Amino acid sequence: MNDKILLKIDDLKISFRNGGDFLQVVRGIDLEVGKGEIVGILGESGSGKTVSSNSIVGLIDNEEGRIDSGEIYFRGQNLLKLSEMELRKIRGKNISYIFQNPAEALNPYIRVGKQIEEALKVHRLQYSKEIVLEVMESVGLDEAKLIYNMYPFQLSGGQCQRVMIAIGIICKPELLIADEPTSSIDASLRKKVLGLLRSINERYGASIIIITHDFDVARFLCHRITIMYGGLVMEQGTTEEILKKPLHPYTRDLLKCVSSLDESRDILFALEGRPPSPLEFKDECPFYNRCKNRCEKCKESIPKVVEYQNRKVRCVNI
Ligand SMILES: Nc1ncnc2c1ncn2[C@@H]1O[C@H](COP(=O)(O)OP(=O)(O)OP(=O)(O)O)[C@@H](O)[C@H]1O
Ligand SMILES: [Mg+2]
Repeated sequence: MNDKILLKIDDLKISFRNGGDFLQVVRGIDLEVGKGEIVGILGESGSGKTVSSNSIVGLIDNEEGRIDSGEIYFRGQNLLKLSEMELRKIRGKNISYIFQNPAEALNPYIRVGKQIEEALKVHRLQYSKEIVLEVMESVGLDEAKLIYNMYPFQLSGGQCQRVMIAIGIICKPELLIADEPTSSIDASLRKKVLGLLRSINERYGASIIIITHDFDVARFLCHRITIMYGGLVMEQGTTEEILKKPLHPYTRDLLKCVSSLDESRDILFALEGRPPSPLEFKDECPFYNRCKNRCEKCKESIPKVVEYQNRKVRCVNI
């Protein structure tokens, strides 16, 4: 593996128990993250963004879910082959994860300062209250001394989210996975948090995977963008390529939704219909029903990823 690549996911497929059977929700993801690179994963709700990212840190519950196939290489080592003990050493230290639902991810019975400190202790790194307070302030938790002694239920959703970010960055991980880290904070703080993620990337060279619904977030932060739909990657490219010249009809429609919110336009564009649920997955393009460019070929099988002008897109009409 190229030594500029930090993370490489190959043909990853993930299923969950559904009655007596398993239902595949992630149907073959390929993703690469370079050292020092920020990659955004975008796509509508249910497209498999969280499940795919959870699998990187071994968070697919063995009872409920299973990895059907694929590989996840981190610094050349296949994470899917590691024991829970080995993974635990990497999790939080080399790869850390900021969860989509911060209130659920924090322990309700432990003061937040102690929870942040615990991340350092677990990995036997130097810890002190001062180090914790400094990180808390850097993520915009003003009144850090006060908040240090509070329990998660005493904090607002936005404050909980910043506590999660503090836990995520305190060990200076090589890879930070942030699942919608700005979804429950207001616009001014959002900018601060995004600026913070960017400075972590610039200062420590940390790679970041950021999951977001927001193209503005991606524009501000990401070097490359991956678009997911129906448990598949539909398109990948540099941020500039995707924003200026989206190739997949799905990406084009997603971008149209954003630009129609622009006040200078009077027509609102909304994507009609909804994404298919895994129960409705067929051996065809998952975007078929909503696609304006659809043709009979799209129904023959799931379109293969094709390379076009050095870019990758899953569409038969390129
Ligand atoms: N534990 C689980 N058991 C069964 N199905 C699951 C489980 N977790 C996720 N799924 C299903 O997997 C699919 C992908 O879910 P995922 O949470 O990855 O979507 P997402 O792209 O992160 O969506 P959102 O933008 O709403 O966060 C969905 O259909 C979801 O219902
Ligand atoms: Mg999600």
